[in-house]
Amino acid sequence: MKQRVLSGMRPTGQLHLGHLVGALANWKQLQDTYECFFMVADYHALMSEYEHAERIAQATIDNVRDWLAAGIDPKQSVIFRQSDVPEHAELFTVLAIMTPLGWVERVPTYKEQLREVKGRDLATYGFLGYPVLQAADILLYKAHAVPVGEDQLPHLELTREIVRRVHAVLKTDIFPEPKALLTEAPKLLGVDGRKMSKSYDNAIELSAPEASVRADVQKMFTDPTRIKMSDPGHPDTCNVCGYWKMFAPERHARMWEECRTSTRGCAQNKKELGDVVVALTEPFRAARARHTTPELERILQDGAQKARAVARQTMAEVKRAVGLSLEAA
Ligand code: TRP
Repeated sequence: MKQRVLSGMRPTGQLHLGHLVGALANWKQLQDTYECFFMVADYHALMSEYEHAERIAQATIDNVRDWLAAGIDPKQSVIFRQSDVPEHAELFTVLAIMTPLGWVERVPTYKEQLREVKGRDLATYGFLGYPVLQAADILLYKAHAVPVGEDQLPHLELTREIVRRVHAVLKTDIFPEPKALLTEAPKLLGVDGRKMSKSYDNAIELSAPEASVRADVQKMFTDPTRIKMSDPGHPDTCNVCGYWKMFAPERHARMWEECRTSTRGCAQNKKELGDVVVALTEPFRAARARHTTPELERILQDGAQKARAVARQTMAEVKRAVGLSLEAA
C-alpha cells in the first residue's frame, strides 16, 4: 500500500516560475511514490480575498491548467477543489471545537499576516481558523505526508498537535500524525533580485506570452560589480547566472567559466537565458490551447468524486467517535 500525500495551493492568481521549482516539480515526482491528493484551496483563498472573490473561480481553473502542464496527472493523482467536498467544512467545525484558542492565536503566520497585509481586513473569526481548516484538509484524507515549503511548517506542527488533542479527547486514534516533506527547492529570485512573488511584481508567469517572458528576463539584474565586459564576473552572486544553473544545469559550468574569465558578456547571457526560459515555459503556453475550461471542470468534478468517497468515510468515523452518530463502523 502506498502512503498518502495531500497538498494544496491557494488560487489567488497566475502561477509563476517560483511555483514550478518550489512546489510543482516536487509534486510531479511524488506521484510515483505516493497516492497523491492535490487540492485547490479555494476556501483558504476566500479567507483573504473575500472582498474580491470574483477572481477565485477563474484562478482555480488556470491553476489546474498549469498543474497539468507541469506533469500532474489526473489519471494518477486526485485533483480537486476544496469547496467541492463539503466534508472539509464539516471536519473543520469539529476540529475548531476542540482546538484551544491560545494555539491558533500563537501561530506565527497569523500574527505576521495581520501585521503585514495592508488594505484587507484579516481580523476576522474565519482567518484565525486558517490553519485549522488546513488541518482538516490533511486529516480528512488521513495523509501521512504533506509536501510544503518552510513557511508552512507551523501549520503542520499545529495539525500534529490537533491530532494528539483529538485523540486524547475522544480516547481513540483516528488520524496518522502527518509529517512534513520539506520542499528543499532553491529559493528562486524574481527579476529584481528579491524573492519571486506576485505581490512584488517581479515574477515570470508560467503561461505568459513569449515576448513578455523575454522582456522579463531582459529586466534582470546581473553582477553589479561587473561594469564593463572585460571585468571578471561573479556568477555565484549573479541572479542571471543562478537561473542558468537552475534551468540549464548541463550548460551552466561552461557559461559560468566564460563569465568569470570575461569571455562572455551579461547581455549575451540574458539573451540566451531568454531562449532557455521561453523553452521551459512553452508547455504552459501550449496548455492554454490544449485544455478547454469545460475539460478542466470535468477533471475537477471527477477528482471531487474520488476525494468525497474518502472524505465521507472519515467524516462518518469522526461523527461516531465524537458521539454525533450511532451508526456502526
Ligand atoms: N496554506 C497553504 C499555502 O498557503 C495552502 C494549503 C491549504 C495547504 N490547505 C493545505 C497546503 C493542506 C498543504 C496541505 O501554501
